[in-house]
This record gives sequence, C-alpha cells and structure tokens, in this order.
Amino acid sequence: MSHHDERTFVMVKPDGVQRGLIGEIVGRLEDKGLKMVGGKFMQIDEALAHEHYGEHEDKPFFEGLVEFITSGPVFAMVWEGADATRQVRQMMGATDAKEAAPGTIRGDLGNDLGHNVIHGSDHEDEGANEREIALFFDEDELVDWDADAATWVY
Ligand code: TYD
Ligand code: MG
Repeated sequence: MSHHDERTFVMVKPDGVQRGLIGEIVGRLEDKGLKMVGGKFMQIDEALAHEHYGEHEDKPFFEGLVEFITSGPVFAMVWEGADATRQVRQMMGATDAKEAAPGTIRGDLGNDLGHNVIHGSDHEDEGANEREIALFFDEDELVDWDADAATWVY
C-alpha cells in the first residue's frame, strides 16, 4: 500500500448477493479506479453482526438489521485508493435507497432503507474503516499488488 492510499471496508449485503449484483457492484468500484486488496464470500453470524453494527445497538431497527445481515451470504471486501472511504460513500449514495440519487449504487440498485445492497465504512467516523477491516480480515488475507503491472495488456 503506498503511503497516501487509504483502505476501506465494503460489503455486498445479502439482498445484493441474492439479486446477483456482486459483479455489478465490484465493477463499479473497479471502473472508478479503486483497487480490491481483499475479498471473502461468507455468512455473518449473530456475534459478528452485533460487533459490526454495535453503534446501532440501541436503535429500534437494530434487531431487524441483525436479522437481515445474517439472513444470507455477503461478499466482504477491502478496497484501496486515495480517499477511498469517502469515495466509496459518495458512490454508494444515501442510506435510504428510495431517496438515493440516480447514478449512485443504492440509487440505481437498492430497494429501500433496509435493503440497500451495499455497506461501506463511514468516512465521518474516524478510524471506522480500519476497525471494520480488522473485524472481517486478518492482515495476511489482504494482498499487496500493483494494479498496473500487467505486461500482457497492450
Ligand atoms: P447507517 O449506519 O445509519 O447507514 P449506512 O449504511 O448508510 O452507513 O445504518 C446502517 C444500516 O441500518 C443501513 O444501511 C440500513 C439500516 N437502517 C435501517 O434499517 N433503518 C434505519 O432507520 C436506519 C437509519 C438504518
Ligand atoms: Mg453506517
């Protein structure tokens, strides 16, 4: 990782996996020029859901949120790039997919407030990106690679 690049945690939520949107979502991040450095297709258990969404523990929607995020597989990822956390949040759009702007991932692909196909670390919550990466990945599961290294592309 070059020193000015930042890493952020992203995941395709169970609705996005169910609807076959992993490729579409990964493609948008690739097209933007961000670099995937980790990926894991997995099922989130109750304990991990509680840790990941701990900030919402006291909210009325918490129980439903945990039920949803554990309801089927997710595709958890780490993406790297300049200002990656804020960039991904911008590409995601507003939390409520009904209100999210067209052109954003949630605006184009999501259904409603709960079913919004993608999670990305909060750029306004200092250190949330690295905390979430550590929750889902061991450091040795992340790959340091050069996206411009392909010598077989003309
Ligand atoms: P939040 O962290 O506020 O949104 P974001 O995903 O944009 O960071 O909330 C986490 C998730 O909880 C959100 O993606 C969808 C769900 N949620 C609800 O189901 N109801 C709500 O009222 C809110 C605010 C969120
Ligand atoms: Mg959030």
